[in-house]
Amino acid sequence: MVCLGNICRSPMAEGILTDKLKAKGIEAEVDSCGTSDYHIDEAPDPRAREKATEKGLNIDHLKGRQFVTADFDRFDEIFVMDKSNYENVLALAETDEERQKVKMILSELDDEDVEEVPDPYFGMEDGFEIVYNLLDRACDKIVDRAK
Ligand code: 4NP
Repeated sequence: MVCLGNICRSPMAEGILTDKLKAKGIEAEVDSCGTSDYHIDEAPDPRAREKATEKGLNIDHLKGRQFVTADFDRFDEIFVMDKSNYENVLALAETDEERQKVKMILSELDDEDVEEVPDPYFGMEDGFEIVYNLLDRACDKIVDRAK
């Protein structure tokens, strides 16, 4: 799960997918990171932690890290939140196999009008609720495929 800062969207996505896979008894490695180095080693944003807690998840222990090219080897699928993340990760890919691992997470959904998970960092009060619900639905689809 990849976003810009690894403190809002991708740690929520990591928490949601980890929880859903565990509930289905599916073993898989899930992690998150940011394309930037802005928040390395920081815990998720308090608003993301609060939203996760409200939904019954604890993401307080997660720590920000930056995407590294070794992630292309380590993971089968790399889900990015928006087009800018997509471009940034794709720019680091060296092979078609690596490029094909990178997916816009909302391409999992059939909604034609939402392509990107909006960045809630500078945004509105209900941004974290909107983001959480989009990620929750996308992660349901990912788990359905993994079954
Ligand atoms: P995220 O949100 O990419 O969902 O973690 C952001 C967090 C921090 C910044 C931007 C977006 N920032 O500019 O510091």
